[in-house]
Amino acid sequence: MSFSKASVRDAAVEGKRALVRVDFNVPLEDGNVADDTRIRAALPTIELLRERGAALVLVSHLGRPKGKVDPGLSIRPVGERLAELIGAEVKQAPAVVGEEVEAMADGLGAGEVLLLENVRYEPGETANDPALAEALAKLADLYVNDAFGAAHRAHASTAGVAALLPGYAGLLLEREVTELTRVVESPQRPLVVVLGGAKVTDKVGVIDRFLEVADEILIGGAMCFSFFRAQGTATGDSLVEEEGVKLAAEALERSGSTDCELRLPVDLVLGERFAADAEPRQSDGVEVPDGWMGLDVGPRTARAYADVIASAGTVLWNGPMGAFELAPFAAGTRAVAAAVAAAPGTTVIGGGDSVAALQQFGLADKVDWLSTGGGASLELLEGKKLPGVEALIDA
Ligand code: 3PG
Repeated sequence: MSFSKASVRDAAVEGKRALVRVDFNVPLEDGNVADDTRIRAALPTIELLRERGAALVLVSHLGRPKGKVDPGLSIRPVGERLAELIGAEVKQAPAVVGEEVEAMADGLGAGEVLLLENVRYEPGETANDPALAEALAKLADLYVNDAFGAAHRAHASTAGVAALLPGYAGLLLEREVTELTRVVESPQRPLVVVLGGAKVTDKVGVIDRFLEVADEILIGGAMCFSFFRAQGTATGDSLVEEEGVKLAAEALERSGSTDCELRLPVDLVLGERFAADAEPRQSDGVEVPDGWMGLDVGPRTARAYADVIASAGTVLWNGPMGAFELAPFAAGTRAVAAAVAAAPGTTVIGGGDSVAALQQFGLADKVDWLSTGGGASLELLEGKKLPGVEALIDA
């Protein structure tokens, strides 16, 4: 499937003002941007618009300030980092909308950039209030959505405003949708999906979809304990998402009637506590005694998963294999990350913690596509329509 929305590449932007929704929801530390990956990911669209003589009004959310001004979630540090990255001034609006902001937008020349305050300071943002959408639309002649990470939200700045201005897809948004859709619709086979993380409920939609289209699904992370509980295996003090147990049982049952093999760990690394100084203990099987918790997949599992990854035509990875932030329990995630990085097939990383893991192990540049979306990438992979994409004009 080719991308079906109008691209910013094909928009007439010279002398126009573009409202550009970006996902600058980045981690802050001591008031500074701690990881600028998402800002860098938006640069191609920003540069394209500047080179083509548009004036830019950028808008993003940062965190979840719940419709109130929260100075700790001001977008200003992001604007400062953006100015460094583009080597040009980024004007900072004192608010999201309003007369002062309109005057600043009116005064922009070609190639100039204005960054609005955190759009979630406005209660109308998450409510997709038409009044906020209208106030945003007043700031520009056209709309560009490059905020793939927020495209699963039907908010005023992602969906509402696109009904009021001609809406184009940014370069990042287009690439994200294209790369992730290809995994589902036309992958090189075998297609191997590696899923980890804590919760089955987060991943059940993806499991369901890929039981139909993947060749193998490899499960790791604490979510495996919902599967083990469903199979009647002792899980000791491991983190078990109770809500996930029934879903895990259903997935196991469904896997019996599809061509996709659903694999669970065959050994584990246990700890008495979730702590960096906890003594790791290898268990030969997957039974966890009381007083212990499973905190990583074991070496046999890691090797088996690495072998499957090495012979895959396409690998999709979402979610760590264990508590990789604790050194004694990082080996399983490291082994999977290394296998994905070395895999000859196409490798796509579905956002969130797996990206953090690859960065921690210095392997982030060794994969084919690192998604900037967490929830958005999962929803797209599940086959859901993303409101932020749907609202744009068709190609
Ligand atoms: C993300 O970080 O996944 C996106 O920016 C969306 O943020 P949200 O979950 O607060 O809507």
